[in-house]
Amino acid sequence: MRLLPGFLSSERQHALVVELRAIVASAPLYSPAMPRTGSPYSVRMTNCGSHGWLSDRAGYRYSPTHPLTGAPWPAIPRPVLDLWHETTGLAYEPQACLVNWYGPEARLGLHRDQDEEAREAPILSISLGDTALFRLGGPERRSPTRSFRLASGDLMLLDGPSRHWFHGVDRILPGTSRLLPEGGRINLTLRRVTLPQLPMPGGR
Ligand code: SIN
Ligand code: MN
Repeated sequence: MRLLPGFLSSERQHALVVELRAIVASAPLYSPAMPRTGSPYSVRMTNCGSHGWLSDRAGYRYSPTHPLTGAPWPAIPRPVLDLWHETTGLAYEPQACLVNWYGPEARLGLHRDQDEEAREAPILSISLGDTALFRLGGPERRSPTRSFRLASGDLMLLDGPSRHWFHGVDRILPGTSRLLPEGGRINLTLRRVTLPQLPMPGGR
């Protein structure tokens, strides 16, 4: 795991918020439901990119369209793609950008990201707004965990073994950032879903 605290300048954070407001205007935040039980998450979600991550009674999956509007997800904004290339050093692009919005009471239970065929591609997490108390465990649900704060402008790269580690958000610390006038926290999770094409040997 690579933590990049304060990676984003205030200007870059504000520029991302402008992009996100446009995304939410065309792909509104919605309250997803847990598989089987249908209980609602406390986190509200939307997506951008060709592959949007969904959770509902039927399970977890990727979809090309928004569950309520039926429209294709908006594209991942250029500044977000730039951050992926800048931090991962990878030439291929992410396909999924999950946008999580946390109000003061929201949390996210311990889970692993495992719906991707590109199992070894890293995951990039971008935090904006109020600080989160984030919990990172290990490969098993019972592995020891530790918690630390993710503040506005912090990036976290889950790469190598940590790509498969359990993680979650214990709670939000309201009033810790002034980036979002309405308060709350936004987390962007960038993932590659399908296996990237390998360059052809000797190809151009
Ligand atoms: C997630 O694991 O989907 C989001 C984690 C976060 O909000 O930091
Ligand atoms: Mn996750």
